[in-house]
Amino acid sequence: MLARPDQGRPDGGIAFAARGLTLDYATSRGSVRAVDDVSFSAGEGERLVLLGRSGCGKSSILKAVAGFIEPADGEILVKGRRVNGPGPDRIVVFQEFDQLLPWKTVRENVAFPLRVSARPGGRLSKVEASERAADALRKVGLERVIDAYPHTLSGGMKQRAAIARALVTNADVLLMDEPFAALDALTRRQLQEDLLRLAEAERFTLLFVTHSIEEAILVGTKLHLLSPHPGRTIASFDTSEFGLGNSGGDRFERVVKEVNGLLFDAAPIPESVHV
Ligand SMILES: Nc1ncnc2c1ncn2[C@@H]1O[C@H](COP(=O)(O)OP(=O)(O)O)[C@@H](O)[C@H]1O
Ligand SMILES: [Mg+2]
Repeated sequence: MLARPDQGRPDGGIAFAARGLTLDYATSRGSVRAVDDVSFSAGEGERLVLLGRSGCGKSSILKAVAGFIEPADGEILVKGRRVNGPGPDRIVVFQEFDQLLPWKTVRENVAFPLRVSARPGGRLSKVEASERAADALRKVGLERVIDAYPHTLSGGMKQRAAIARALVTNADVLLMDEPFAALDALTRRQLQEDLLRLAEAERFTLLFVTHSIEEAILVGTKLHLLSPHPGRTIASFDTSEFGLGNSGGDRFERVVKEVNGLLFDAAPIPESVHV
């Protein structure tokens, strides 16, 4: 059994952490609890995956880490600092294909965050930003379309460009919310493998959200399983042994089965919990 409670690590090595994170939404019927008392942590270079059924609060947690929504209780720390809002130390890649500005070329889109003054290290010159963007686009295999406009790209290419744009910022933590969920199976697999290759080369810290068990085990070094509505921790898994070159076989299948059991033996989805 790989499941174990997440004890966290001494603060020195922690890239990001949630402590007792509780998230509520205000609705016309009152306050609805989406996430209840969730804690996790990831060290530098780790890839933590939030896995759970649709509606269990994965996107809400990611948005809270991004600083877009404020916790009702608990806190989020990035490199030891409490998150109070969005900041250049975190960057988000979403599922939607329309994350790029349609009137800018792919290269201009990727260069864009480097031209914004809020960036750590200040803004870069146009030439420097453009060179850095081209470099990032080569890393994600888009060297042939750097001067194309987004509408001419496939969904997979758009997601690659969004990843390149996240990479150039050198943010401490990359946040990805089901970035490959809308892709066909083969493209999805290719992007998963490319993301792992990039992670190996660039050593970024990742918070990745998915509802696919296989994707979670493949992409993550650590899995955090959530129960549905409100999202609560079911278990935490170390999946660092799986990755490129080790994404099949008996052991992988056993973990898939165990995670599947934990997710689907969980209590049925109740009506909204009002608090
Ligand atoms: N803006 C909102 N207002 C009210 N409820 C919301 C809002 N956003 C999400 N929720 C509710 O919070 C719960 C978690 O949603 P979400 O974080 O999107 O889950 P997931 O990403 O795991 O599918 C769901 O029950 C959803 O209906
Ligand atoms: Mg979601």
